[in-house]
Amino acid sequence: MRVVIQENYSKMCRWAANYIANKIRDHKEDRPFVLGLPTGSSPIGVYKELARMNQAGELSFANVVTFNMDEYLGLPHEHDQSYWYFMHDNFFDHLVDMKPENINILNGMAEDPEKECEEYEKKIASYGGIDLFMGGIGVDGHLAFNEPYTSLTSRTGLRNLTTDTRIVNSRFFGNDPEAVPAQALSVGIGTVTDSKEVLVLINGHNKARALAATVEGGVSQKWTWSALQLHNCAIIACDEEACGELTVDTYKYFLDIEKAERL
Ligand code: GLP
Repeated sequence: MRVVIQENYSKMCRWAANYIANKIRDHKEDRPFVLGLPTGSSPIGVYKELARMNQAGELSFANVVTFNMDEYLGLPHEHDQSYWYFMHDNFFDHLVDMKPENINILNGMAEDPEKECEEYEKKIASYGGIDLFMGGIGVDGHLAFNEPYTSLTSRTGLRNLTTDTRIVNSRFFGNDPEAVPAQALSVGIGTVTDSKEVLVLINGHNKARALAATVEGGVSQKWTWSALQLHNCAIIACDEEACGELTVDTYKYFLDIEKAERL
């Protein structure tokens, strides 16, 4: 696992956007580049930078297919807290050549959510899998909506949200945890680790415990992103604030070995 530490959030986002842009540009195969995407506040700076590059003619999304990580159960597209709405508002609506038919987001209003999830897995497979999955992390370490103790080999399916996650996400629902949907559709941990590459954004003091557990703890279902320790091509991009719980030794090691990446 690589850990690329940047001085602050904006540099972390710039570095991650450049990394993704280069992967898309270098993709020469005769099939689309398949990109997995998260919601949350962490990726917003990355989306802004990718959209800027796209509008400036520096990066095309014409040959990119996207798959989002998750969606709340029971929220229609037009709900301003649905992840469909978030993705269009923060990213897709700002791209000049993204094809709407290449955008895949789990449907939180599906009549048969389990079938919706099975079809999602099949669709990912039909493209030959995901080339690069970008992710964020919950304060409890959750990956998409895979809460602690979800199987590290889980596939896309229906998930129950913990009270902790509903409290954290209630900031978007008038600070009322009860207003946060209790269930969501989510890719599995196995769905993400099957991707050729995984890039996780971890920023801010409130993610320090999760970062340390993911990098320094053992592989454990308690900290779901720790599954990345078994992945051959995984990168964590983080800011200094998130490094507060790393041992000095780990922190210095990654600063040293990744010094060429420091912006
Ligand atoms: C939600 C999403 C996760 C995301 C997490 C962190 O729970 N389902 O995929 O990683 O929020 O969000 P933020 O980046 O706002 O801290």
